[in-house]
Amino acid sequence: MSASAGVPFVDFRPHVAALRGEIEAAVARVLDSGWFILGPECEAFERELAAAFGAREAVAVANGTDALMLALESLGIGPGDEVVTSTLSAAFSGLAIRRAGATPVFVDLDPRTLNLSPEAVERALTPRTRAIMPVHLYGHPADLDPLLELCRRHGLRLVEDACQAHGAQYKGRTVGTLGDVGGLSFYPTKNLGAFGDGGAILVNDPERARRLRQLRNGGQSDRYKHELVGVNSRLDELHAAVLRAKLRHLDEWGRRRRALAALYHQELQGCGLELPEEQPYARAVYHLYVIRHDRRDALMAALKERGVGTLIHYPIPLHLQPCFAGPGGQAGSRPVAEREAGRILSLPMYPELAEEQVRFVARAVRESLSGLK
Ligand SMILES: Cc1ncc(COP(=O)(O)O)c(C=O)c1O
Repeated sequence: MSASAGVPFVDFRPHVAALRGEIEAAVARVLDSGWFILGPECEAFERELAAAFGAREAVAVANGTDALMLALESLGIGPGDEVVTSTLSAAFSGLAIRRAGATPVFVDLDPRTLNLSPEAVERALTPRTRAIMPVHLYGHPADLDPLLELCRRHGLRLVEDACQAHGAQYKGRTVGTLGDVGGLSFYPTKNLGAFGDGGAILVNDPERARRLRQLRNGGQSDRYKHELVGVNSRLDELHAAVLRAKLRHLDEWGRRRRALAALYHQELQGCGLELPEEQPYARAVYHLYVIRHDRRDALMAALKERGVGTLIHYPIPLHLQPCFAGPGGQAGSRPVAEREAGRILSLPMYPELAEEQVRFVARAVRESLSGLK
């Protein structure tokens, strides 16, 4: 695709065009089946997803927020319990904890990856802490070994927010499967995205998987017998069918994102930006490609003028969000997150981006930076 008219932050048209035949066949299969909720497509998707990620089971739900909320509930975590998590994430990570009835404790970050800092986690533990919830932000795995060690020492659960990290690996193992439960989101922009909302929980304990299937379906143990106070968080058959078709491409899309990240890296080296660095323990899948610069807002405006779409993930650390306001949440309390939230900028990153478009963006970044001096 030509970059002469600029590069949007995201463009689904080439994605849909490339997949149209497969998607239409999947949709037709569901229409012809006459079965629309919790049927053979959902069951097959759960099996295929679990196999692709190396989990014993996967439970499909309506979105990533529910995946995390139900994951916590399935572990018996709720009112009176604290869950330690990263302060730089989609607010939905924190909302899932609150909606499960527990209290999120937002901690500061490892400045290299912007994932939660194990030292900050350790300092935040209290007798009420029940779980640690790392977020594999931007598709780069959090450093899990120190967190797993903390969990072992303190009898805590590890709940992975892998919503942005489909297929990323930590020391050779797929993230989302290393803790007690992992949550995935299939929001359209995610590496595996639906044409609407969707989510799933990865789980290695079959009894917990059974409980999660009950919780997502109103808590029913048998038809019309509600044993638990569940929710309605089912993935419909249409989306399960679409996601099955797309799942077959996830590895190839992950490799493409990595290749595009390498090209950005090559084109942007030495121009005074901080670039994302893959850590030795990580195989990142670049859900987002996030650069850092002290004059981020001016850079963002200059890129907009050159037709390059960018976004900020995320401008407000969660401890400063009005919905999470409370004691311990004052400005200045998480210095790394507060500083970096003012420096981060996400460049266009999706598998259908052409090399020419990446070069266009990189050139625009270089020109914008020299214009700022
Ligand atoms: C890190 C993270 N956690 C949780 C969520 C929530 O997922 P969803 O939007 O599918 O509810 C998202 C996506 O929005 C996310 O990026």
